[in-house]
Amino acid sequence: MRSRYNILPMPFLLKNVLVLVCGSVAAGKAPTALRRLREAGYTLQVIATARALEFVTALTLATAAESEVHTDLDWFKVQPGGKHLELSHFPDAVVVLAATSDTMARAALGLSGDLASATLLSVRCPILWVPAMNPRMWEHPATQGHKTTLESWGHHFVGPVSGKLGTRGEGAGMGRMVEPEDVVGAVRALVTARDLEGLHFLVTAGPTREYLDPVRFISNPSSGKMGYAVAKVALERGAQVTLVTGPVSLTPPPGAKVVQIESALELKAAVDAAFESVDAVVMTAAVADYRASKPSSEKETKTSSALTLELTPNPDILKGLGERKTHQILVGFAMETDKGVDKAADKARRKNLDFILLNYPARVGEGIGFGADDNEVTLVRPDGTFEVWERMTKLEVGKRVLDGILERWKERNVK
Ligand code: PMT
Repeated sequence: MRSRYNILPMPFLLKNVLVLVCGSVAAGKAPTALRRLREAGYTLQVIATARALEFVTALTLATAAESEVHTDLDWFKVQPGGKHLELSHFPDAVVVLAATSDTMARAALGLSGDLASATLLSVRCPILWVPAMNPRMWEHPATQGHKTTLESWGHHFVGPVSGKLGTRGEGAGMGRMVEPEDVVGAVRALVTARDLEGLHFLVTAGPTREYLDPVRFISNPSSGKMGYAVAKVALERGAQVTLVTGPVSLTPPPGAKVVQIESALELKAAVDAAFESVDAVVMTAAVADYRASKPSSEKETKTSSALTLELTPNPDILKGLGERKTHQILVGFAMETDKGVDKAADKARRKNLDFILLNYPARVGEGIGFGADDNEVTLVRPDGTFEVWERMTKLEVGKRVLDGILERWKERNVK
């Protein structure tokens, strides 16, 4: 079928990332973070501080990064030019992993007595700090002052977050390093075009729960992964994101304004409240079409006789937005079991959508759809034209959905 507008895949550019690993307990997570960065397509070089090598071996880091690991030992070898200057030409971004208060302080003060600090002074590309330290050290005015200095130079920070700490007897607190996946997301945000800057996206994710009584509800297997992927990529590309989410076990992407809901009526209230101020809506939420007509406030006692439930239809939230739509781009997801394209096109017309992404529950066993990391979708337009997309990760689906929205946005705004 001919496209009325083109949705061009925009592959992430492969980039060079220099990772500095510091001497914190969280250096133990460095090999996983390096592996994730490699899997995301980045070419790596690694510098490990002397203290980092007390927590993790150079060989482990080299194996995970598939690159040489540079240390103070090579730096002190006599060579022309200096290792730090040679390394400073390599990266498109620098990541300071398991960053300690000591490395932050050295950078903020412009010290250059070791390879990591000297390289930080020499590079001219975005620098991302991923701190990991004891909460008392993180909160100390000295560390916070150094952070302010580094931020004033345009350096970026991801984390720390509150959580269980690696040091014995310290329990939990604000100082834990973010997870390796969040490091990849933050790096991607640094090197990805911020082509959605200035746009506000409303993304819905996860299932709704329609309670029959205080302990039983009607729901579905939506994990929220599709919606969280859209939200994450939109944030990485500079958009403002309001994420309205049903109950899921995922951590929202940093930077999203999160509204937690349970029922379809709560989802409707949250979406209706945000709608006026957004530029685009992506409804991945799997909304229950019915709720109990008379939910019980007491737990229903089990009997041996059959139980008949009376259900009331929930409002069609997306259709309501379609009726109110002024400038917003509206995108839905359609879950169908048969005659997918025709039904999806019909939904797109009835709900006044710009396009809808059709997916099938029957692919769940193959690692596609509900709960999976991958999806296989068909983009369907209200006029019935469609594009079949091959199987890809939900992050990649999210990216292509956003490319499609941007195309629509530009198309509308040139008219
Ligand atoms: O969360 P994951 O595990 O990653 O799984 C992702 C997903 C399979 C849930 C997602 O890709 C998906 O298909 N979501 C939409 C499921 C659905 O409700 O489809 P539908 O065909 O019933 O609804 C069509 C559209 O109308 C959807 O955008 C839905 O959000 C919206 N809707 C539906 C019912 C209703 N009462 N109000 C609505 O707004």
